[in-house]
Amino acid sequence: MARNPYSEIERGEPGAIGWRIHYFEQVDSTQQVAAELAGQGAAQGTIVVAELQTAGRGRLGRTWHSPPGVNLYATTILRPRMPLSEVPRLTLVAGIAAAEALGTVAPGMVALKWPNDLWLKGRKAGGIIAEALTDKGQELSCVLVGIGLNLNLALHEIPADLRDKATSVRIVTGRRCDRIAVAQALFERLGARYAEVQRDGFAALSDEYARYFALAGKRVTIVDGTRHVSGVAIGIDRTGALLLETPTGNTRVIAGEVSVEGVYQ
Ligand code: BTN
Repeated sequence: MARNPYSEIERGEPGAIGWRIHYFEQVDSTQQVAAELAGQGAAQGTIVVAELQTAGRGRLGRTWHSPPGVNLYATTILRPRMPLSEVPRLTLVAGIAAAEALGTVAPGMVALKWPNDLWLKGRKAGGIIAEALTDKGQELSCVLVGIGLNLNLALHEIPADLRDKATSVRIVTGRRCDRIAVAQALFERLGARYAEVQRDGFAALSDEYARYFALAGKRVTIVDGTRHVSGVAIGIDRTGALLLETPTGNTRVIAGEVSVEGVYQ
C-alpha cells in the first residue's frame, strides 16, 4: 500500500475537517470514493485525496483534467444541518477557503469567478463541486465537497485546447509549491469557514467572498438551462446569489454558467 504523505496533517477528532485523510495513488474520482465511504458511515471531515484521477468530475458533467503527481484532488465529506436548497452556498464557502490556501503560495493573485472557479491572473487554476447525497426520506445525508487545485502543473501538461484558459501556481509564480502545505492550509481554512457558516449563516462570509470576487464591473452572461441573463456584475448578496445590473433593473441569479465578456473561456 502507498505511504500516505497526508497522514502528517490529519488533525482533531472525528467530525473535524481533516481528522482522517484517505490517500490513493489512483482513483476514478475522489467524489466516487468519498460517496462510498459516506455510504459506509464515514464521519464528517473525512477527506479523500488522490495523486491521479482517471475520471475526474467537473460541474455540468464535464471532466476534470487530473494528471498524476502535480496537483491537489480532494473531496471532503460534510454532514451539515441545512436545507438542501442551501447546499450550493457550500461551494462559495469552499471557494473562500481555497482562495485563502492558494494565497499562501500565490499572494495577491487569487480571484473567485462566481460560483466555483478559482482564478490566478484571470485563468482557471481550480474548481469546486458540491454534491448532495440524500437518504431514503430525501433528507440531506451528506455533501461531498470536491476541490481541484492546479499547483505544480507545467504549461506543456495542459491539453492544447485548455492552454489559453487554464493555469497553475507554478505557471504564474515560476516556482513549484509544497502540495502538502497547500492541502494543510486548505483543510484548516475549510474547517474554520465551515464552522463560521454553520454558526452564523452565509451572510457572515459574504464580505470575505467579496474580497476575492473577480467579476465586479464585468459584463457577463449567465446561462441556466434555457434562461439567459446578461448584465454587469455588481457582487453577491447575503445568500450568495449573484447581483447583476441589467437594462431592466437589478436582478439576482442563484445558479448558472457564467461567461465573461472579453475573457476567453
Ligand atoms: C469544476 O470547476 O467544474 C469543478 C471541478 C472539481 C474537481 C475536483 S478534483 C477533486 C474532486 N474529484 C472530482 O472528480 N472532482 C473534484
